[in-house]
Amino acid sequence: MKGRVIAVTGAAGVLGAALVRNLAADGAQIVGIDLAKGFAGDAPLALALPGVDLSDEAAINAAFAAIAQRFGKLDGLANIAGGFRWETLEGGAIETWDKLYTLNVRTAVLACKAGAPLLAKEGGAIVNVGANASFRADAGMGAYAASKSGVSRLTESLAAELKDKGVRVNAVMPSIIDTPANRADMPNAEFNRWVTPEALSDVIAFLLSDAARAITGVLLPVTGRV
Ligand SMILES: NC(=O)c1ccc[n+]([C@@H]2O[C@H](COP(=O)([O-])OP(=O)(O)OC[C@H]3O[C@@H](n4cnc5c(N)ncnc54)[C@H](OP(=O)(O)O)[C@@H]3O)[C@@H](O)[C@H]2O)c1
Repeated sequence: MKGRVIAVTGAAGVLGAALVRNLAADGAQIVGIDLAKGFAGDAPLALALPGVDLSDEAAINAAFAAIAQRFGKLDGLANIAGGFRWETLEGGAIETWDKLYTLNVRTAVLACKAGAPLLAKEGGAIVNVGANASFRADAGMGAYAASKSGVSRLTESLAAELKDKGVRVNAVMPSIIDTPANRADMPNAEFNRWVTPEALSDVIAFLLSDAARAITGVLLPVTGRV
């Protein structure tokens, strides 16, 4: 990863922060992009872009223009920003479907659209975060799984579109990540069965690296022991 420039969206979140630490430890220069107003003080970022709403096309275009100006290239893009909501159809609202579409699909689409031309300059890789739950949705998971299915279809379609431009596009499909929020929501679960942010980051780092140069268009389940 030495000398590589990697953009990580959602870099202030639990998985994003773990991925930043992982890639930086391997010598990459990391650009952190997040809606959050700031990043952890010890986040090893070469360029911090806080307060960027990834669902806003002008804001995301400005973020990638800043990357181009600072580095003149981009080797990898990890689209980690996203979110979850459990809600049944009967007890829920149509707005939730729109909200999760914006949070999970629109953000990834706009980041890919803005980042792809820069990635294509020297070849590169995109990793999106889908969800294992989107292969078959359980009760209360309709809006979330539909939005993460959108991320899967984006991944497949873009992989085909960028194959001959030297840009690979893959997705990881986590089940439950071992985060403080999940521990609080499911206090009686066996936490050691869940995939840790560090283990999932290892898989994302692999997909961003040259070691995965023969892989594109893959939706890779990363489920720990769930
Ligand atoms: N946690 C799980 O069990 C699990 C399972 C499967 C898949 N995933 C996926 O894995 C990814 C990371 O999950 P996580 O648990 O690390 O989530 P997280 O801690 O909530 O981190 C997500 C980050 O994305 C940012 N974000 C949200 N909307 C944004 C926007 N419009 N523009 C820019 N940044 C935005 C959030 O900022 P704010 O906090 O300021 O909104 C937050 O910093 C997500 O895509 C999630 O859907 C998670």
